[in-house]
Amino acid sequence: MFRDLLTLEFSIIIYKKNLRAIMEDKNAKQKEFWSGKGGDYWVVKQNEMDVMLNPLGEKALAKLDLRIDSKVLDIGCGCGATTIDIATKVPEGKVTGLDISVPMLEQAKSEAIERGLTNIDFKVVDVQIDQLVTEKYDCVYSRFGVMFFEDPFEAFKNIFSSVKEGGELSFVCWQDPTLNPWQSLSIKVIKEYLDIPSPPERSPGPFAFQEQDYVKDILTQSGFSEINFDNNQEDITMFSGKSLQQASEDYLAINPVVTEMLKDSPDNLKAEIVESLKEAFSEFHKGDGLLFPSATWIVSASK
Ligand SMILES: C[S@@+](CC[C@H](N)C(=O)[O-])C[C@H]1O[C@@H](n2cnc3c(N)ncnc32)[C@H](O)[C@@H]1O
Repeated sequence: MFRDLLTLEFSIIIYKKNLRAIMEDKNAKQKEFWSGKGGDYWVVKQNEMDVMLNPLGEKALAKLDLRIDSKVLDIGCGCGATTIDIATKVPEGKVTGLDISVPMLEQAKSEAIERGLTNIDFKVVDVQIDQLVTEKYDCVYSRFGVMFFEDPFEAFKNIFSSVKEGGELSFVCWQDPTLNPWQSLSIKVIKEYLDIPSPPERSPGPFAFQEQDYVKDILTQSGFSEINFDNNQEDITMFSGKSLQQASEDYLAINPVVTEMLKDSPDNLKAEIVESLKEAFSEFHKGDGLLFPSATWIVSASK
């Protein structure tokens, strides 16, 4: 009887929390982007994105002490390349990929089925709001999937609650855009033509976690300890296999704000911006796409 009452009370709390989230429409813009144009773009470009991000993701993965039977959560797993890689490393354990993007998770699921992996599953959840899993996991990992929450404090408290005592967290995120010319140089060029608004500091987006102290604060307030930041600087290949022309055109297509602004503009404006991008990118075109310097934080912590 007492247990039933506790279960009922717990269900009411979860129900109220979800209802509040729906009414407040948390992360609505991100959901629209990642289940819309942004997600569709990543599905089509998955191989190129993996070539660019794999070396950085591997640095974060190396921080985890994975055993063959570890249970791992992959946060904001997208099209699932990292989730699949982890599944092969924990053959007697399991890995669960979590994401808000329906098309990206569909791609992830079909890839896992094609490879015959049975220790892997994917769930459409909002990591900030939803209950993530019903059991506790040994490790939590993310490759650039933790910077898009409207309230990262709420999200990381939620993540913390799904980790076992003694469990580990590791993720990779971008440092300041000025240290990442794949972003800052291109935006500088585009801004000569379009009045692109600069996003407010710390707002959801690729650079929300650029400040080390801010990220440390989020992790500490969520309950994590032994927080460590590795300052990782290495060259990355963007638009692998693409010519200078194709890479510049693709760059214009991937930025949702720019795409929206260019929607109704004359074709010659797009052509002019592409020409300027080609000029700016030319010193980075080394045969296989664009080779850019990059700066990321490899963040690790434990519970
Ligand atoms: C930059 S992509 C990285 C995808 C993947 N980790 C990779 O490296 O290829 C960011 C991912 O975070 C996911 N995401 C954003 N907000 C989220 C949220 N609130 N809950 C779960 N996933 C989220 C997006 O849908 C997207 O797949």
